[in-house]
Amino acid sequence: MYKKNVHKRKIQSVAVLCSGGDAPGMNAAIRAVVRSSIAECLQVFGVVKGYTGLVEGDFVELELASVANIIQRGGTILKTARCPEFLRANGRKQAADNLRNKGIDALVVIGGDGSFRGAHAFWKENKIPVIGVPGTIDNDIAGTDITIGFDTAVNTALRAIDQVRDTASAHERTFLVEVMGRNSGNIALEVGIGGGAEAIVIPEEKMSPKEVAARIERGVRRGKTSSIIVVAEGDVPGGRAMQLAKELEKKYKIGAKVCILGHVQRGGSPSALDRKIASVFGAEAIYSLLKGKSDLMVGIYGNKTVYVPFAKAVQKKNTIDRDLIKLAQVLAT
Ligand code: F6P
Repeated sequence: MYKKNVHKRKIQSVAVLCSGGDAPGMNAAIRAVVRSSIAECLQVFGVVKGYTGLVEGDFVELELASVANIIQRGGTILKTARCPEFLRANGRKQAADNLRNKGIDALVVIGGDGSFRGAHAFWKENKIPVIGVPGTIDNDIAGTDITIGFDTAVNTALRAIDQVRDTASAHERTFLVEVMGRNSGNIALEVGIGGGAEAIVIPEEKMSPKEVAARIERGVRRGKTSSIIVVAEGDVPGGRAMQLAKELEKKYKIGAKVCILGHVQRGGSPSALDRKIASVFGAEAIYSLLKGKSDLMVGIYGNKTVYVPFAKAVQKKNTIDRDLIKLAQVLAT
């Protein structure tokens, strides 16, 4: 589609990396970046271990066959990392020098908000075009309805909750099921609704132990013999669910079992939706670079592909659906 004047283009070569927490569907995005690049006569490199590989100059050239048989695989073939050096301007300068020395003209970053903050600073300081592809199970990036990995993580957690409900019901127990999300309650909200939770505890909306206890007791009064409370991990050492279980026991004499789902939510074969959006985002990242764009993320908003400036994407505003919170409360009664 963009093949005209191939030799006159400013961008002849691109690199792609994954950064931050992995998310199912990242491989599908890498595949789309590689295959779209080659279709547009671009040379394409993978960067190993995210920004760490960029700072260390760890590049590997990718061919059509390098990304064969990966669309269905979780994790990322390029590996990922959280890189302290890239938080500093001299680390980002080293990364830019490595790209230039390798003859690479542009960068695609697959990751979440922390990765996009780094990408934004990298562009401002070094003027190497960079495009983001939203990949995080947390779905907490502004300007896109969905991020790669969220759908798979939600379905993984939901399957587990259904299984916990069986045993909760058999033993007439209360369970606190902890899902991922240090700063984001999106997974908790989605699976809390899908799993019919009696309460959903998320970082964005304070719910006191007193209120959780009141909900459990209200259920007991109307004949419920078991309850599932979905709890986002939150920014709490040891996780919010353990803390809440202790509070419920100490103050309200409610004994609850804790089930922490943890990193199982990050792995596994991506869902059909994650594979599709990853493919669309990956290809669109390349097309946007060829259109001369930079310093932005590709996304999907209201069923349309959109470009969102990094500065807006990382704002963290409106990433939780307040109507869904209200709905969850109504349905849990
Ligand atoms: O950002 C994705 C995420 O899985 C969060 O939900 C979670 O809080 C965090 O990463 C955990 O990170 P790590 O695997 O580095 O402990």
